[in-house]
Amino acid sequence: MFGAQFTIENDLKITMRPFRDSDVLGLAQGFSSYKVRHYLRSISGVSEEFERDWIQKIEKSTNEIVWAIVPGQEENAKGCISINSIDDSARSGTVGIAIFDPAWWGQGVATTTHTALLYYASTVWNLWTLSATVYEPNLPSARALLKNGYVEVGRLHQSEFRDGHLADVRIFQWINPYHAEMIFHPNPIPELFTEAVQLSHQRLQEIAKIIPDLLPLERKI
Ligand SMILES: CC(C)(COP(=O)(O)OP(=O)(O)OC[C@H]1O[C@@H](n2cnc3c(N)ncnc32)[C@H](O)[C@@H]1OP(=O)(O)O)[C@@H](O)C(=O)NCCC(=O)NCCS
Repeated sequence: MFGAQFTIENDLKITMRPFRDSDVLGLAQGFSSYKVRHYLRSISGVSEEFERDWIQKIEKSTNEIVWAIVPGQEENAKGCISINSIDDSARSGTVGIAIFDPAWWGQGVATTTHTALLYYASTVWNLWTLSATVYEPNLPSARALLKNGYVEVGRLHQSEFRDGHLADVRIFQWINPYHAEMIFHPNPIPELFTEAVQLSHQRLQEIAKIIPDLLPLERKI
């Protein structure tokens, strides 16, 4: 499924919304670029037809939530962020992101949309833990996770072939700060997570102020 539409009212004014037909060309061009695919799981090119089918497939899926990222004054999507493999019983999922127009890299789009995704995961979907994997050299991707209260919990050594050699994959996990004590009950929150849980709580409180579309209804009155 697609996530509901909302706008983050920061300097960039980023809208997260379902994908549309008008996004297909940008999706196909972006996800065919080696520069963009470089750190994604599979490196391949894709056609517009593939992307049109993909939009329909996502619409019908029930265990993933996907958004188009539309920053600034853009009309069409420049990125994609998602929660995949949602497990209803464990309240868990995995997270992925690609800003598929490199002109938008390095402007905070990934960091901010990750925060918005965590806010949605907490307040709309009641997810308790999320995880993400990042190829070792992909520093921007790791930074965007760490700044949102993800913790690096391990790595798969020499497990992916990139740029002519085997690279490690870093594994990150986020704990929902509103349920952290319950998640680890009867044990205390492990020291590994204590600072990150506080950081995530702080960021969720901050982003709530700039996503008026997602504020609880009574707080709008
Ligand atoms: C990885 C990606 C999502 C980052 O998106 P972004 O919007 O450029 O990220 P942000 O602007 O929020 O930057 C995140 C952090 O990375 C840093 N960063 C950005 N470009 C960098 C670079 N070339 N080298 C090192 N750090 C960099 C930023 O400074 C920021 O850290 P800081 O706040 O401590 O300064 C984007 O580059 C992308 O889509 N790449 C292709 C697909 C991909 O790799 N997806 C992730 C798979 S795990």
